[in-house]
Amino acid sequence: MVFWGELGDRVVGAPSILAADFANLAEDVRRAEEGGAELVHFDAMDNHFVPNLTIGLVVRPSLEEEMDLPVDAHLMVDNPDNLIQPFIAAGVTSMSVQPEAVTHLHRILEVIRAGGCEAGAALNPTTQPELIEWALPYLDYVLVMSVNPGFGGQTFIPEMVDKVRRVKEMTDLPVQVDGGITAETAPLMVEAGAQVLVAGSAVYKGDPVSEMRKIIEAGRSVL
Ligand code: DX5
Ligand code: ZN
Repeated sequence: MVFWGELGDRVVGAPSILAADFANLAEDVRRAEEGGAELVHFDAMDNHFVPNLTIGLVVRPSLEEEMDLPVDAHLMVDNPDNLIQPFIAAGVTSMSVQPEAVTHLHRILEVIRAGGCEAGAALNPTTQPELIEWALPYLDYVLVMSVNPGFGGQTFIPEMVDKVRRVKEMTDLPVQVDGGITAETAPLMVEAGAQVLVAGSAVYKGDPVSEMRKIIEAGRSVL
């Protein structure tokens, strides 16, 4: 399945299931889909790269049985190398790695693509975009973190608007933004060039149908 390669210049919403109710995960994803979501953001954390531990691959098959949306995995783990093949086998459409946690970024991106997945690089708030300059030909998207990875519900870091602008000066690749994305911050990010709006707590703080819709509409309002 291809997601990023067919995005064109559209702006889309992606619920981060980290903030969902895990006892009703499939239903929570379906509700966000009803609100217009087109991608599911799957946050894997290892308590090493970030000080938190979240979901791993065991959750993926349950999701597959219950929904049709493509899944995008965000690997916030040290040494993601061992996880690439299992995530490919689990049928994710795309996955991003944090270059800060990877020694051989070129190799890992090639492995992701060779497995038929689209590959992304997720940049911590203070990571220079230039870190991925030479990896751009091997990437399908860039993820600009607008909070420090590790937890949902954090405050949006306003300087990340300019960072999205900087990334878009470097490349035409689609930019995904993640962290503190709400109906207020989404338009700022879209104006700067972001296209995929990941939102966790802002979607699941209320009715995911209307909250997801609000964020997508707010983002598209500046186009
Ligand atoms: C943070 C994760 C995010 C998180 C976003 O490390 O990468 O995907 O779920 O949560 P909100 O939207 O609540 O900032
Ligand atoms: Zn994420």
